[in-house]
This record gives sequence, C-alpha cells and structure tokens, in this order.
Amino acid sequence: MIKEELININQEAEKEIESSNDLKTLNEIRIKIFGKSGSITILSKGMRDLSNDDRPIIGALINEVRSNLENKLKQKEEFFKNQELLNKLENEKVDITEPSKDCEIGALHPIARVIDKLTDICVELGFSVVEGPEVETDYYNFEAMNIPKNHPSRDMQDTFFISENILLRSQTSAVQAREMEVRKPPFKIICPGKTYRNENDSTHSPIFHQLEGLVVDEKISMADLKAMLTIIMKKLFGEDTTIRFRPSFFPFTEPSIEVDVSCPNCHGRGCSTCKGTGMLELLGAGIVNPKVLEISGIDSKKYSGFAFGFGLDRTAMILNDINNIRYFYKNDVRFLKQMK
Ligand code: DAH
Repeated sequence: MIKEELININQEAEKEIESSNDLKTLNEIRIKIFGKSGSITILSKGMRDLSNDDRPIIGALINEVRSNLENKLKQKEEFFKNQELLNKLENEKVDITEPSKDCEIGALHPIARVIDKLTDICVELGFSVVEGPEVETDYYNFEAMNIPKNHPSRDMQDTFFISENILLRSQTSAVQAREMEVRKPPFKIICPGKTYRNENDSTHSPIFHQLEGLVVDEKISMADLKAMLTIIMKKLFGEDTTIRFRPSFFPFTEPSIEVDVSCPNCHGRGCSTCKGTGMLELLGAGIVNPKVLEISGIDSKKYSGFAFGFGLDRTAMILNDINNIRYFYKNDVRFLKQMK
C-alpha cells in the first residue's frame, strides 16, 4: 500500500515538476511534497506505525523517492535560473556596431589661448614664467612700485581694497618687487595673471588679465626694450606689423612709453576695430625707475632694467575681432563655440 502510494507520489510529482513553468510553481510543488503537511512528510510520520520488518524497506524507499524528487526540483530550479540569466543577457545586450552619440569637445578660452601664445613667445626668448598672489598687499601692489599712499597716481587704478593694507591686485606689476627681492640679476621673468579694478564698460571688466615682463641686468637700455617688444609683437601679430612707441608716464618706469601696433584687422588703413586710426594701443612699458630697484634691494648703480605690462583681454579682443569684453566672462556657450 505505502509502496504504491510512494510510487504514485513520485510519478505525479515528476510530472508536475516537468510541466511547471516558473520558480513560483516549483516552490508550490516543493511545499506540497516536503512542506509541514506535504505528502512525503506525512508518509515519513507514518513510519512509526509500521512493523519492524517493513520499516527499513519503506524507509529506504521513502529516502529514494525523496532524493529523486529533490534532485528533479534542483535541476528544474537551475534550468529556470539559467533561463532568467539568458533573458537578462538578451534584453540588456549592447549593440557595439550602433553609431555613438555625438560627444562635445571643449576648447581653450580665448584669453587662455593668448596667455599660452604670449608665454610661448617669451619662453622662447629666454624668459622664466612666475606667478604671484591675486590677493596682494598694498606694499607690493603700490608702495614697492613707487606709488606711496595718498599719491595722486593711485587714482589711475580704481582698486578693490579688502582691508587697509590688503587688496585685489590692480596690476601684475605687483610681482616685480616680489621677484626682485628674491632674485639676483641678471634675470628675465614674465607673469601672466588675473588683475582687478573697479571698472565696468564694453572695454573694461572688473576682472581682467595682464602679462607682466621684467628684465634686470647690467647696461639695460631703451634700445633693448624696443627691440624686445618689436620681436614679441611681430611674433604675436605677424611679421608685417608696425610698432609705434609714445612717451607716457608710470611711477615705476622712467622714462615710460606706451606701445601701439598696426591694426591686424586692416593693416593700418583704418577700420572699426581700430576706430579708424589704423593703430591699437596695447601695452605700457619703460626703463625700471632706479627707485623701484633700490626699494627691492637691487643696486641701481650697477643694474638697470626694463619692464612691460600687456593687457591680455584687449589682445584677445583684437585677435578674435570681438568688440565687447563682457563676452569673455559670461560663459555663454554659443560665444565660446565660435572661438574654437
Ligand atoms: N601696470 C601698468 C598698468 O596696469 C602697466 C605697465 C606699464 C606695466 C609700464 C609695466 C610698465 O611693467 O613698465 O597700467
């Protein structure tokens, strides 16, 4: 009796396992056989009512059916799991032959490009590149550049003060004194960087960029300065550029000059870039005032120097024919894309 029942259970269960089609039904079948009131569980409980002779025989049979069905359940379960994995692989597959989405490539900002270009030119001419702090002391920005407190020439630069003696540097000239304090002549340095002034119109931004140059050696003269600037300008704007030197005034140079170049847009004929003048004013320069050398501990009887200060925003505006400085600082992608 029990034997037949076992064979029946085995056959039925095998069929059900075979025809099941997911893990959930498989689990239900497992409970039906091996659960608390599952068929095999109940049969096993009935063992104690059997005679001593029958018990081992039926016991062995129950074990056989149990391990057979457990095996079948396990096989089917693995089949379903495998199936699931295959489905997943199928659904999530990536077609590597599909064309890729467009990926945007950035470009250097026009001012960064001017800095790179001018720096390359100057390094080729033997200059070392230095940096200085943008938050500067009154001393380096003004005093050491021969612009004492309350001197009228401070009005030339409307400065952002942080406290009485700390400010946002209004000129990269501030690095001149820093470098003269720590270097022994001869030396040639440039310092590109950000500068700040309280100005805001189509050609002035409160944050702008300059490139400072300083050469200190024995017997440096105006001829050296003019030759150096001519070479730099021609490398920057092209060999056919003409250069004009005009007398000017800066407290830290004596004599001082301002330097104009022929408009690269119209080659001197006159256009909207140069407002019809054919020339563009680009930088201040001069022979380092001996006072400035002395303030920073350089013997002005033995050494002399020249210095220059480029306006880089203006240079970038000229090179890219842009008429409003604000475009540089708005981060408008449409503008920047054109600058590629
Ligand atoms: N620092 C000056 C300015 O911001 C520019 C300048 C003029 C720099 C003459 C120099 C120089 O080094 O020699 O207007």
